[in-house]
Amino acid sequence: MPDGPPFRPSANIADLRESATIAASQRAKALKSAGREIIDLGAGEPDFDTPAVIREAAKAALDAGATRYTAIEGILALREAVAREANASWRGGAPITPAEVVVSTGSKQSLYNACMVLFGPGDEVLVPTPSWTSYFEMVGLARATAVEVHGDPARGFKVDPERLGRHATPRTRGLMLNSPSNPTGSVYSRDELRAILDLAASRGWWVISDEIYVRIAYGDPASGALAVAERRDHLVVVNGVAKAYAMTGWRVGWAIAPAPVAKAMTALQSHTTSNATTVAQHAALAALTLGEPVERAVREMVAEFRARRDAALPILKAGGLTVLPPEGAFYFYLKAPGAGSVPDAGSAFTLRLLEEFDVAVVPGAAFRTPDWFRISYAAERAQVVEACRRVVRAAASHPGA
Ligand SMILES: Cc1ncc(COP(=O)(O)O)c(C=O)c1O
Repeated sequence: MPDGPPFRPSANIADLRESATIAASQRAKALKSAGREIIDLGAGEPDFDTPAVIREAAKAALDAGATRYTAIEGILALREAVAREANASWRGGAPITPAEVVVSTGSKQSLYNACMVLFGPGDEVLVPTPSWTSYFEMVGLARATAVEVHGDPARGFKVDPERLGRHATPRTRGLMLNSPSNPTGSVYSRDELRAILDLAASRGWWVISDEIYVRIAYGDPASGALAVAERRDHLVVVNGVAKAYAMTGWRVGWAIAPAPVAKAMTALQSHTTSNATTVAQHAALAALTLGEPVERAVREMVAEFRARRDAALPILKAGGLTVLPPEGAFYFYLKAPGAGSVPDAGSAFTLRLLEEFDVAVVPGAAFRTPDWFRISYAAERAQVVEACRRVVRAAASHPGA
């Protein structure tokens, strides 16, 4: 029998691009397994172990039988804990109830579910840029159009109502927010957040606020949208355990959304992944409810991120690099040598950095700003410092720099 026709991607994914951050880290892993000693500062993953008290709680939950399906939207105790935490900052009206919380397999799935239920063909969604690569793909998978709204580099690439308003059309239906931001490390102040939420409310836009880094801030605590919003009838707040508690592999995130939206997200999830892994939900519950032992671990991790930032930033600056001083998350965002004289200067530089200096980072093209590149400092301090020295050496000898 002749072979059937070759695989042709369906219209659903025809425009889908592989996650560029994952692609960069796979290339680094391939070089490592070929024997090269690569310093991998590509991944956005804390290098700490999940705090021991959380691991112990998960083992106990397993032994107590946490091995079966749960409600699609997650165990009640976890949704209650999320609602309790959210109500500690929400002042705008009736308290958030567990029925408005949907637990998913990582905040990535929460964001995807939210995009799928809120946006569709013909809709435009404003995405402050540079931005985490997956927003563009998620909005695209919902068959809506992601509209890049480039922030001002002099303001850490943050956007404001005036910039957002310039990109709005009658088809604008929503806005993605991310503070602290991946890749810039910028943090929106309460006033900046409030101004954007006010604009969205006045236009009837949906706001999806991705707050996965909200606990990792180096100045004042970073504010979430609920702390400043006056209303939340068009607000979906997404968070999870991955970054703050070093729990990337457990895959637990959640959305806090108005009840009809939460219901629609649950229905969507019921046909795709069902509940997040049961034992992982119990681990997340421990993270949110065990109190001081967990809080201490979070403080220690944030202090270590800060120490790395403070050790590496002066090296990058002294090397003459243009770098945004991060106020949160764990990334440096830097202008690539050669920017302005070659197209996609970030990719040219990061490729050379990997091949000649054995340092893996992510080109800014992944975040729709090809003149820039991102260094993650979620790695041992000595490695971060050594890698930054190499970045400076590579920059000094870079053609066109
Ligand atoms: C901005 C942002 N949002 C969401 C995620 C996904 O987190 P999770 O592991 O909870 O799916 C990431 C992970 O890199 C991220 O950087």
